Amino acid sequence: MKQTLIELLDSRVRAALDAAGCAGAPAVVAPAGRPEFGDYQANGVMGAAKARKMNPRALAEQVITHLDLAGIASKVEIAGPGFINITLAPEYLASLATDALADARLGVPQIAAQRVVIDYSGPNLAKEMHVGHLRSTIIGDALARVLRFLGHTVIAQNHVGDWGTQFGMLTAYLIEAEQGGDVALSDLEDFYRRAKQRFDEDAAFADTAREYVVKLQGGDAQVNALWRKFLDISLHHCEAVYERLGVALRREDVRGESFYNDDLPVVVADLQEKGLAVESDGAQVVFLDEFKNKEGEAQAYIVRKQDGGYLYATSDLAAIRYRIGTLHADRILYVVDARQALHFQQLFTLSRKAGFVSEATKLEHVGFGVMLGDDGKPFKTRSGTTVKLVDLLQEAEERAFALVSEKNAEMAEAERKTISQAVGIGAVKYADLSKNRSSDYVFSWDTMLSFEGNTAPYLQYAYTRIQSVFRKVDSWNEAAPITLTEAAERTLALELARFSDALNAVSRETAPHFLCSYLYDLATQFMRFYEACPVLKSEGALRDSRLRLCQLTARTLKTGLDLLGINILEVM
Ligand code: ARG
Repeated sequence: MKQTLIELLDSRVRAALDAAGCAGAPAVVAPAGRPEFGDYQANGVMGAAKARKMNPRALAEQVITHLDLAGIASKVEIAGPGFINITLAPEYLASLATDALADARLGVPQIAAQRVVIDYSGPNLAKEMHVGHLRSTIIGDALARVLRFLGHTVIAQNHVGDWGTQFGMLTAYLIEAEQGGDVALSDLEDFYRRAKQRFDEDAAFADTAREYVVKLQGGDAQVNALWRKFLDISLHHCEAVYERLGVALRREDVRGESFYNDDLPVVVADLQEKGLAVESDGAQVVFLDEFKNKEGEAQAYIVRKQDGGYLYATSDLAAIRYRIGTLHADRILYVVDARQALHFQQLFTLSRKAGFVSEATKLEHVGFGVMLGDDGKPFKTRSGTTVKLVDLLQEAEERAFALVSEKNAEMAEAERKTISQAVGIGAVKYADLSKNRSSDYVFSWDTMLSFEGNTAPYLQYAYTRIQSVFRKVDSWNEAAPITLTEAAERTLALELARFSDALNAVSRETAPHFLCSYLYDLATQFMRFYEACPVLKSEGALRDSRLRLCQLTARTLKTGLDLLGINILEVM
């Protein structure tokens, strides 16, 4: 099977370690920390030597006599206590670039496919989507795109909040509002506020609302129809946001909490039978020894309340069974706020104990931090309320429009609009994706919309810059050989060869920022190359070779941005 660059070097170093008597020793190949260490370093010798009580330097000498990198490396050296520094041959880098250009997948190997369930977005349908849902939606969508591109079967699951007592209140209010001729569901926030106000102020309405909860859970046809109608409207709101964001979540991907309703008693009964769930103060509770509280007692994981109601945890247990039993997942990713970390640890531990999930299936909580405002506090509107996603996206486009208009005053308005859409939405998405997801991050319009630095506009601009080169070329030989002589050409080719490994890192670490950093490095190396190596002013074979590097850079940027869900432009 085809390998990425790191996989190839890794397998060659492992073979050499093997031949030197260290069978099974890991090669530990990674990009070199500094240019004087070559392009890649293999650091496995030290570990192998230590385990075998050998002199690392002597082992390294042996390993490189066995190391077959003919046609791949131009230089292999031992450094320090036993690092192996590898410098790739320019001819080899040129051949990788040539192969990538001839391949629709840009040379990215298609790996043996897994079935990966990605649980993302998951808004609460009682309210409108707000900034809290942005990160899950964007990170989840980028992961879905990258994993699909790598060859996996991705099954998106939108675990929406569509069940619970709030919906009794909302359906009760829906009837009232309709009777009064007032169905202002265009603004769900407002609808929720008015329903809540009625609930708090009118005892009779509150009773009806509670009665509706019971009816809803009992399957009453009329209340169910109203509830469905409400959900439909709420989902339309979400879909408008998805569309604007360029997120490919569809109706079929919605598997909300209510979907698991019938299975909840079955789950609890099963846990009881297995001796995992026990009664505690009238509730059904699982005590997991793995999670102790401050007093050293096992923490309670409640699966059924005193009043017989079920919880978020119970639906998640049922959902895991569905994802294994029906969707046949090999790996499940939960792209959910890091503050739910304990819930997921408990869920995973219990699911394994109960036999819902075997060791073969990987369960991962892809947690993320909070979006903060300039003041370092959770991002809010000036008046202190949560920011609706539609408003945020609207502002992004408006700000981008002002910027684009400033730069291109003479451009037609329609064109400026198209550009500002791609730039505005791209900037918001990229700002999120480019940060290490585990940490909180400060949302800053100025930084994300800057044309300099690790931003979407910078990458979009780099792409249009290359496209403008091609608009100036009349004819050239697209089949010309690539030759790398200048240092900047070689560095660019090396960066291009790293694309596959960047995508693998995204999948392995469930971290889209690896792809962002990669694209940023690529654009930076391209700009350096473009300054150091004349393209349009060069001639013949040299010009063709450089144009091919330009072409592969453009295609890699385009594919990479597409995998992040960010649109590119031909001009801007
Ligand atoms: N609706 C939940 C929330 O807003 C997110 C759902 C995440 N997915 C899950 N399987 N629990 O917090």
